[in-house]
Amino acid sequence: MVRDLNTLLLDSSAESIAKAGRIIKDGGLVAMPTETVYGLAANALDGSAVLKIFAAKGRPADNPLIVHISDFCDIGKFNLVSEIPKGAKILAEKFWPGPLTVIMKKSSAIPFEVSAGLDTVAIRLPSHPVARELIRCAGVPLAAPSANISGSPSPTTAEHVLKDMNGRIDAVIDGGMCEVGVESTVITLAGSVPRLLRPGGITVEQLREVLGEVEVDDAVLNGLADGAKAASPGMKYKHYAPKARVVLLKCTDDEYINYVNNVSTGSTAALCCDEDIPFLNVRCFSLGKRSEFSVHAHRLFDELRKIDEDNAVEVVFSRLPSTDGVGMALYNRLIRAAGFEVIDLGKN
Ligand code: TXA
Ligand code: MG
Repeated sequence: MVRDLNTLLLDSSAESIAKAGRIIKDGGLVAMPTETVYGLAANALDGSAVLKIFAAKGRPADNPLIVHISDFCDIGKFNLVSEIPKGAKILAEKFWPGPLTVIMKKSSAIPFEVSAGLDTVAIRLPSHPVARELIRCAGVPLAAPSANISGSPSPTTAEHVLKDMNGRIDAVIDGGMCEVGVESTVITLAGSVPRLLRPGGITVEQLREVLGEVEVDDAVLNGLADGAKAASPGMKYKHYAPKARVVLLKCTDDEYINYVNNVSTGSTAALCCDEDIPFLNVRCFSLGKRSEFSVHAHRLFDELRKIDEDNAVEVVFSRLPSTDGVGMALYNRLIRAAGFEVIDLGKN
């Protein structure tokens, strides 16, 4: 593992988490494991600590942060929102702790830096025991974006975090590989109808089961139209981009294999499934078995980082995922990694 004397690598023992809690109380930055991806945490109620997150990540100042709590009561205890909508209680009961972020109207306790000037705040109660223990030790809610340099794939291991953040942050707690592998589902309750802003491990089908009507924001499956205002500022940036060009193919399994083999050169690769490997004549990065979409989500960012480390790869071909269930989260991340470049093989 890459090490740097400036960034402490902590294990996930109670003493280490307590130490990390003190760093946060003192205004420092700690990367923590969550069930989705690693987060870069600071005291959410301290605007100057939060500013350090933006500097460490190179994050645009207009992109707000998620506030992480360890108990539903923290919302009232720290006076985070102006009002808790009924939908938030329903969602919390069903999906918290877990990979769901809920946007509500903010209170004046939320620093400008956290909400990036919006009148709302995003709140999440993670299920990862280390994240929750860290929030408890710090004694404050934690503002935490994904712990990557802005624009690179989100980190799902402590090693990924160090690769991006070595020397830029005070500490990272190693909690192993994140279970879900893609960032939380983001839903806003600040409008008249609940609206999905970012798909994740909790699917829109699951949200509709408990809330009834849920709209899907246009930016989830498409690029933002020129001049349109992003409901979730993070959606307007080219995200999750590996150095290699990612091209998505809309096709059947046979078409995928034939196309990739036909255009193969020494610098092409496939972001594929286990079943494809015996038939492909290029370097393969597998997301797992074809039918196991949650495994694809779990492995996506790790495989994108591996592609980055392979300097020979200039173009990588992947299937365009289905938008059903957790497929929507994969679709949303991959289409951004590909800069919206899709080839429809059915039309050629
Ligand atoms: O799983 C996750 O959500 C991870 C872990 C660490 O919890 N965090 C994460 O944070 O993915 P970040 O900053 O990488 O993504 C947060 C997204 C951004 O797209 C941001 O624009 C959006 O949530 N967001 C945050 N606050 C918002 C608000 N008040 N209104 C609209 N969008 C908001
Ligand atoms: Mg992020």
